[in-house]
Amino acid sequence: MTDTQWWRQAVGYQIYPQSFFDSNQDGIGDLPGIQAKVAYLQSLGVDFVWISSFYASGHVDSGYDVTNYRDVDPQFGTLADFDALIQALHAAGLKVVLDLALNHTSDQHPWFQAARRAKDDPHHDYYIWQPSDGQTPPNNWESVFGDSAWTANPATGEAYLHSFAVAQPDLNWENPAVQREMQAIIQWWADRGVDGFRLDGVTHLKKNADFADVANPRTDYARDFAGTAPYLAALKPVLTRNHLLVIGEAGGVDMATAKQWLDPEQGIFDLLLEFDHVHFWEANESKLPMTALRENLSKWQLALENHAWNALFIENHDLPRAVSYYGDGTAYPRRSAQALGMWYMLMKGTPFIYQGQELGLPNAHFHHIQDYRDLDSLNYYRRQLAAGTPETAVLGQLATKSRDNARTPMPWTPDQYGGFSTHQPWIGLTPGLATRNVQVEQSDPHSVLTFYQQLIQLKKSVPALQLGRYELIDTHDNQLYVYRRSYNGDNWQVVVNMSSQLATTQEFDLTASELILTNLRVDADSDDQEIQPWEARLYHLRKLEQ
Ligand code: NOJ
Repeated sequence: MTDTQWWRQAVGYQIYPQSFFDSNQDGIGDLPGIQAKVAYLQSLGVDFVWISSFYASGHVDSGYDVTNYRDVDPQFGTLADFDALIQALHAAGLKVVLDLALNHTSDQHPWFQAARRAKDDPHHDYYIWQPSDGQTPPNNWESVFGDSAWTANPATGEAYLHSFAVAQPDLNWENPAVQREMQAIIQWWADRGVDGFRLDGVTHLKKNADFADVANPRTDYARDFAGTAPYLAALKPVLTRNHLLVIGEAGGVDMATAKQWLDPEQGIFDLLLEFDHVHFWEANESKLPMTALRENLSKWQLALENHAWNALFIENHDLPRAVSYYGDGTAYPRRSAQALGMWYMLMKGTPFIYQGQELGLPNAHFHHIQDYRDLDSLNYYRRQLAAGTPETAVLGQLATKSRDNARTPMPWTPDQYGGFSTHQPWIGLTPGLATRNVQVEQSDPHSVLTFYQQLIQLKKSVPALQLGRYELIDTHDNQLYVYRRSYNGDNWQVVVNMSSQLATTQEFDLTASELILTNLRVDADSDDQEIQPWEARLYHLRKLEQ
């Protein structure tokens, strides 16, 4: 491992700035609010933060519709606040990763404002256009947020493409001027001291050049990964020159492409956020498909084993809370949050923790459409109602799946608004404030937060848990996920019951090993072959034969 691969031994923490901490009491989190919590990040033991998009924005897609890539949105503060924040984070030993939406800008961005005025404007070719009569979309392509991916622009007799919201026109990456703009933006932030980027939506960049109808109108028009390679190659020099950590958000990427993109010599990314495991859960709502999950995650673990490095995550600002979705937030909220933490974090790779995950926060589970802020959720509600789905059913789906479930304010104390602000926050809080907050969990040795601190400490101090080979121990059942990590003869084993029922197994013998961490209290039954619901155990197999 070289110095520039520091991230292989690091734990990352994602901050959603709207909801982290509000320093100026306007109900919205901000950059000085992050600075006020640097000591907390240090106490957690994480090594870098990825801060979700905070550039000047049109506020349609929560900061991912950028109007100026070289400024901080006033709701989050100023560039001076950013400079102070990065200084404070660096002084505390934390590295800083920014989020960069490459695929689109805001429709309020000066580039698009100029582009839409006339075909001969120099910025026109920054975006993707097709002739339009103003009525019929040029083809059947749909946006990720629903409805046609085209919006008419009468001034030029065309329609522009938007893979996401109407207010997020897609950039034309075929245009070298666009590539140069993004290179310059990356250099500008690198000069301000940032340590890396999470490049948003990279699997959307390359569009089918024939603009013909596609079989799956949501995905099929932008999954040309070979065609994406030149765009990524254009960014590589600026990223490499500045020794930046490069994380790609790569929904839908296939393994062969992932291997190429992650190749330490030829590739561009250090870490890829791929969503295979998330889709398993999405498709199997009531029960975790353990066999498929074991196969899938092990496949990624082994494919990158000697070749590249995995990113490990179970939450982010686009997903519901793991404890509600994958765990058992009703019968085993604490234990299942801890079990999920051990399960994913001790695999081989760099773990990401999304703010509040370390507290075991469940879904916000809002009851009224007025509680929602996320445009994707609001669009979904509108479309479903128009299609005749009863409102109660739609609200039920949103309560399970909406992105707002994980975008609520971080609860710091049991006080009003969770100590996030003294002003009513921009979105409601997650229920359960009295027990699920930083202050209370910090002083509870059995809390989810304390368990996460222990996991982070172990992950960072035990070479086998960082660098060791991953091996699945297949228990051939529907409950257990068991794997081993081995490094220079030092062997560790993780045993997690990912169900709310007792699990019994004869598949392994742990009598000669030492139990290092468990999420069950000491008085609980810890029979080797009987694993309690959502019990998680980490063993050190010192006496195991090689
Ligand atoms: C991915 C971001 O994570 C998500 O929040 C956003 O809506 C889309 N990209 C579009 O920018």
